[in-house]
Amino acid sequence: MLDKPERYARSKAAQQTASAPAAPPCAMVIFGAAGDLTKRLVVPALYNLANDHRLAGEFRLVGVDLADMSAEQWRAHLTDAMKGYVAKDGEFHLDDFVQTTWQWLTEQMSYLPGDLTNPDTYRRLGEHLAGLDKTAGTAGNHLFYLAVADRFFGPAVAALGAAGLTKESDRQWRRVIIEKPFGHDFASAKALNAEILKTLHERQIYRIDHFLGKETVQNIMALRFANGLFEPLWNRHQIDHVQITVAETVGVEQRGKFYEKTGALRDMVPNHLFQLLTMTAMEPPISFDADEVRSKKTEVIQAIRPLDPEQVFKDAVRGQYDAGRVLGEQVRAYRQEPNVAPNSTTETYIACKLDIDNWRWAGVPFYLRTGKYMKSRSTEIAIRFHQAPYALFRGTNVERMHPNWMILRIQPDEGIALEFAAKRPGPTVTLDTVTMNFAYKTYFKMEPDTGYETLLYDCMIGDATLFQRADTVEAGWQVVQPILDAWANNPPRDFPNYSAGSDGPAAADALLTCDGRAWRSLD
Ligand code: BG6
Repeated sequence: MLDKPERYARSKAAQQTASAPAAPPCAMVIFGAAGDLTKRLVVPALYNLANDHRLAGEFRLVGVDLADMSAEQWRAHLTDAMKGYVAKDGEFHLDDFVQTTWQWLTEQMSYLPGDLTNPDTYRRLGEHLAGLDKTAGTAGNHLFYLAVADRFFGPAVAALGAAGLTKESDRQWRRVIIEKPFGHDFASAKALNAEILKTLHERQIYRIDHFLGKETVQNIMALRFANGLFEPLWNRHQIDHVQITVAETVGVEQRGKFYEKTGALRDMVPNHLFQLLTMTAMEPPISFDADEVRSKKTEVIQAIRPLDPEQVFKDAVRGQYDAGRVLGEQVRAYRQEPNVAPNSTTETYIACKLDIDNWRWAGVPFYLRTGKYMKSRSTEIAIRFHQAPYALFRGTNVERMHPNWMILRIQPDEGIALEFAAKRPGPTVTLDTVTMNFAYKTYFKMEPDTGYETLLYDCMIGDATLFQRADTVEAGWQVVQPILDAWANNPPRDFPNYSAGSDGPAAADALLTCDGRAWRSLD
């Protein structure tokens, strides 16, 4: 049996990218082992880490779930899912499946059927982990991944503590990764933080937001702080406004039950969109120290001007999709989706305008929008610079000045573009907008990546920079709370108000037109 990743046949791609050392030995326990997240994202990410030689030879994976199955059956279930990813388009696909790596990973897996609400599950888990520490050399380092419904987060952490599984010593760490949603409003996020902090130290808690695992999101810091060119422009003196877009071409699919009580605002804004906002707007940290970076991000969220209830209806727009055509396919209205009420008032789209009240950004609106079943898939941050003065061009063919934009394309077609004006060749003075484009795929080899690789690895090496701290999460909920309250008290009367496959509701356009601006096209 192979017991060291170093011994595997390495794919060519892995040879080109393997640079970080293997993480320390540990046993990783996944609660929700039979669930969707485990097979779609967490296990493929572990496979990619193994392929890149970033898991220790002593790494072990323990699945815990209610489903009564054997380790063999769990491995077979995961193997089927992995085979489905080979050379298929979709969220994650592999061109080059390295059988020896997968085989090694499956050999490290064990499975424990158990009910999360039963203390006996934790007692048996404790015994199992003690056994692995002795026989497999996992060194007492244990990582618990809560890939379960959010109502279990608090009780599971308390039960882990009661079973003595969260107690650290000088030589062994215990960490807990908590998935989103972390709370469903400000009060519940605060209560959940208070509850888990009774058992865990903040340094043991890794609140995950998978947007921070995206290479292009991490690159925003490099773009801003590793270049002398951009940061001097990055302020209210040069920037007119910022647009942050996460447009999806998927609907709610089979997640109606979850989505009905969540909606687009809770699902996307205080977490994913605020990650994009903080990366764009934070002050430069003085080091990559986790708390230094997270403090700067928290400060910028805390500087967002609170919306008063009347302003919510002026500065925030909600929408729900009707039937329509998305990417050439006819799709049904949200209210016709499975597990969705026929008169549902849940929003599938949100746009809002936020002001950041600090010296860098005062007077620069940040417009955010996200929606399901939009015209095209696009996650981007668009920065619009102030227009140049017109005087020089008076008396020429130039009727208006073209604004400069910098577009950070997060996905798909990852890259950075700069739009500026250039003179069209010819005897008259005519201007055109031209684009300078950096595409990741032409400079770097892009590896298949679920977005969870960096996050899992960082947790294993104890680097919390890319995870949310308690105060950051609470600050995010505090900003959106007035919108949640105002909307809850005033159900929408015009739902559905945008066709699937469109740009979103007309009111979202009005949000910008009344400021003399317009959204960038989603074409
Ligand atoms: C998830 C949301 O957190 O992020 C989904 O619950 C959304 O509704 C998804 O579709 C978007 O993530 P990505 O990585 O596909 O852009």
